[in-house]
Amino acid sequence: MTKLIDQFGREINYLRLSVTEHCNFRCFYCRDDEQVPNCKREDILSYEDIQRIVRLFAELGVSKVRLTGGEPLLRRGISKIAQLISNIPGITDVPLSTNAQLLEKFADKLYKNGVNRANISIDSLNPERFRKITRGGDLTQVVKGIDAAIASGMHPIKINAVAMKGVNDDEIESLIDFAIKKGIDIRFIETMPIGTAGIEVQAQHMSEQEIIERIKHHLPGQLTPLIASKTAGPASNYKVNASNTTVGVISAVSNHFCQACNRVRLSAKGDLILCLGQEDSISLKDAVRSNLSDKDIKEMIVRAINKKPEKHVFNESIDNISNRQMVEIGG
Ligand code: GTP
Ligand code: 5AD
Ligand code: SF4
Repeated sequence: MTKLIDQFGREINYLRLSVTEHCNFRCFYCRDDEQVPNCKREDILSYEDIQRIVRLFAELGVSKVRLTGGEPLLRRGISKIAQLISNIPGITDVPLSTNAQLLEKFADKLYKNGVNRANISIDSLNPERFRKITRGGDLTQVVKGIDAAIASGMHPIKINAVAMKGVNDDEIESLIDFAIKKGIDIRFIETMPIGTAGIEVQAQHMSEQEIIERIKHHLPGQLTPLIASKTAGPASNYKVNASNTTVGVISAVSNHFCQACNRVRLSAKGDLILCLGQEDSISLKDAVRSNLSDKDIKEMIVRAINKKPEKHVFNESIDNISNRQMVEIGG
């Protein structure tokens, strides 16, 4: 089988599939308050488009397809999409990235339709602060969503918390304790300068080093470093001894995990985005809606992967940063 190996020798086995640009939260670091996606129904990939594109990626060696957004649970037919994807030969891992506001209702059905695990964003355990950060989110509902995901059989469940100075850095310890209590994993994310909201939040940036120091101080002598699997995401993780929890840091900016990059992104509108922090993309929607054969489209994908940038350029200059908003890229 042809595998997707880029010019830097990196094997691409992970597709992040955004199913909608809409979101029911408006986290202040992710999007501007007034920003509304401009997306007509015919602009976004249909079930058939998604199924065909993912099948072609699977034939090229991709085994992990993450459902993301926007908020993926807002996409009508999300369970159907999960089922179509998880039934494609070669796809063995179908995780979900969600804010969990609607997860209580969907967890069981998604699990039955092949979503084996979930990453859930939660930046604060204080209901009022949570509401402010998300501009309207309901913490109680999100915690119910987490419980429903655990009960459904999805495993592992991971919390993603964006760590921000003066916003929620006083909650690093309590978020870890919450994860330990629930028996789930947690990763802290460095703020990334993506879109106008992401650039503004750089004033609150905490580096990987600062976050790790806080974690180690909270759990002295209780952490064992873990080695990442071949399809893993970008986090560096520690096992919390004598618990079911791992704690990690996603050093999206400080550390170039780009050398081990294994993923590309497909936007809801069908653009294949080659790097989170660069502009390069090609339209696979146009490709699947033309009369190109499977073979032609696979060749197109192979050519695009060959042009995958070596790394993001977050650290170099603000002018280098992609103009896309986070909801258009899929996180
Ligand atoms: P696992 O498969 O569970 O390891 O998840 P993941 O980390 O790949 O996915 P998730 O959706 O939970 O991503 C969490 C965060 O990691 C994203 O919101 C981004 O902040 C960051 N991230 C994911 N992929 C990339 C990437 O390619 N580059 C950079 N710089 N950050 C990324
Ligand atoms: N920096 C870091 N993480 C971000 N996310 C959204 N915007 C940013 C940003 N500017 C995170 C969300 C979620 C994940 C999918 O992306 O909090 O955990
Ligand atoms: Fe890969 Fe780009 Fe993310 Fe780096 S920033 S890990 S090259 S997608």
